[in-house]
Amino acid sequence: MSSGNGKSFYITTPIFYVNDAPHIGHAYTEVAADVLARWHRQRGEQSFLLTGTDEHGEKILRTAAANKTTPLEWADKLVKEAWLPLLETIDIDNQDFIRTTEPRHEKNVQVFLQHLYDTGFIYQGSYEGNYCVGCEEYKTEGDLIEGDGQFAGQQVCAIHSKPVEKLKETNYFFKLSDFTQPLLDFYQANPNFIQPDSARNEVVAFVRRGLEDLSISRSKEKFDWGIDIPWDNSHITYVWFDALLNYITAIGYGEEDPASKAKFESLWPASVQVVGKDILRFHAVIWPAMLMAAGMAPAKQVFGHGWLLVGGEKMSKSKLTGIAPTQITDTFGSDAFRYYFMKAIAFGSDGSFSWEDLSARYQAELANGFGNLASRSIAMVHRYFDGVLPAAASFSEADLAVQAVAAVAVADADSAMEKVAIHDAIGSIWTLVDELNNYITVQEPWVLAKEESNRERLGTVLNTTVEGLRVLAVLLNPITPKAASKLWAAIGASVGTLDSQPIDQAAKWSQLKCGSQIAELEALFPRLEVTEEK
Ligand code: ME8
Ligand code: MG
Repeated sequence: MSSGNGKSFYITTPIFYVNDAPHIGHAYTEVAADVLARWHRQRGEQSFLLTGTDEHGEKILRTAAANKTTPLEWADKLVKEAWLPLLETIDIDNQDFIRTTEPRHEKNVQVFLQHLYDTGFIYQGSYEGNYCVGCEEYKTEGDLIEGDGQFAGQQVCAIHSKPVEKLKETNYFFKLSDFTQPLLDFYQANPNFIQPDSARNEVVAFVRRGLEDLSISRSKEKFDWGIDIPWDNSHITYVWFDALLNYITAIGYGEEDPASKAKFESLWPASVQVVGKDILRFHAVIWPAMLMAAGMAPAKQVFGHGWLLVGGEKMSKSKLTGIAPTQITDTFGSDAFRYYFMKAIAFGSDGSFSWEDLSARYQAELANGFGNLASRSIAMVHRYFDGVLPAAASFSEADLAVQAVAAVAVADADSAMEKVAIHDAIGSIWTLVDELNNYITVQEPWVLAKEESNRERLGTVLNTTVEGLRVLAVLLNPITPKAASKLWAAIGASVGTLDSQPIDQAAKWSQLKCGSQIAELEALFPRLEVTEEK
């Protein structure tokens, strides 16, 4: 980052349960958060992406027992063999990775709990209800549906399609009911706090019905895989109360040293917390209420994205409908994975994955649309100018039109990213891909090359094309970083590193130095023989 404007952009993903390996639904959330983080970094902001794993609770304990091991050994194995490798597979540039079993987390969850206990927001009570271990949540009657198959005749969790368990416990409660009105006031004063609007409306309607206090501990008589309640070690902390706090324990909450305090001050409140809509209420209701109780600001925004569907249902670990991300990246690569999911599904809506759609878009949009544009443009600079970037003489209307499309693409993509409309941002960037392809078709540089008298015009056309590629490399760096780097390696040497090109300067024309050497370009999106034959 050369021109950093100092503004900080803190973005988080959920921390995922380590009961199983990740599928493309988890990868989807990671990619969206990473694209946003990289975009803000490209704008020159101090961008910080946090992700991690949720390792306590009954679900993990049961999984470990079923695999004849301890929960910590199980978590260690899954983190090392599945969750950290996922970040490589889909090219995530995270600044930290938090595990809820780390001392920095456990210790400061206790600091937070003690503070709420001391200020009267936690009390002892008793509770009886229907618990879904899959959700790690008490369910109301309205959350349950009629089961089918082996569970016909029983009430089951609407998300997991499995029966709930009756629990009756004496435990500690958080005074969530105190926050019904403060939350409604907060939503009203901060209309963008919950996005998209459909998600916001649902949460507001839910809170208007009134909130009940939340059980936040479990008796150790039942199980003990969690963080001790600091004033009563016969209880452990409810896994969601523990997990939500990761967003602040990771950045120094509770620590007294100046460096941790400064880090916390610079990053909190988070700019965007990206979650799937299945866990929106935890993030848009319970989490801001916890922070309010502690006298802290809620995040600036919680974005609840849609579900990847398989056969019309949410893809899920527990229903075994998951597709492993490597099944896609082994053939198509990480850039295509990132591009496909961000472009094909409007961010915020549900979407179905299909191999046919992925192959078709790879071929049409990435290989033929963008990859071929880059490779033929650079090949012509080599063929007609020995790989030396020609100067632009006077600009024609067509050349100026390319510059105008580039300026609009940059501005529109930036404002779409600001609104977390990632698919729209990519759509705006693609107007420049289409414009440049069209420009080459109309200008016919291969015809110009036949007459020596057209040499100056040929130089202007290729200069315009390569400048357009420069803009595309900057805009695509957050989305398809590998392809953007390859393109930059071929064209960008005369203007510094790709990471140091700020978005707001990208459309400024004639930045590449005329006479600079243009290197050969590796194929950005090679033809896939296997999929061609399908
Ligand atoms: O809920 N489509 O963890 P989790 C889109 N540990 N996104 C999906 C998806 C799908 N089919 N399936 C999963 C938990 N996801 C808690 C979170 S945070 C303090 C604690 C993604 O492993 C999506 O982001 O069940 C969803 O919200 C998340 O995985 C749930 O992951
Ligand atoms: Mg889940």
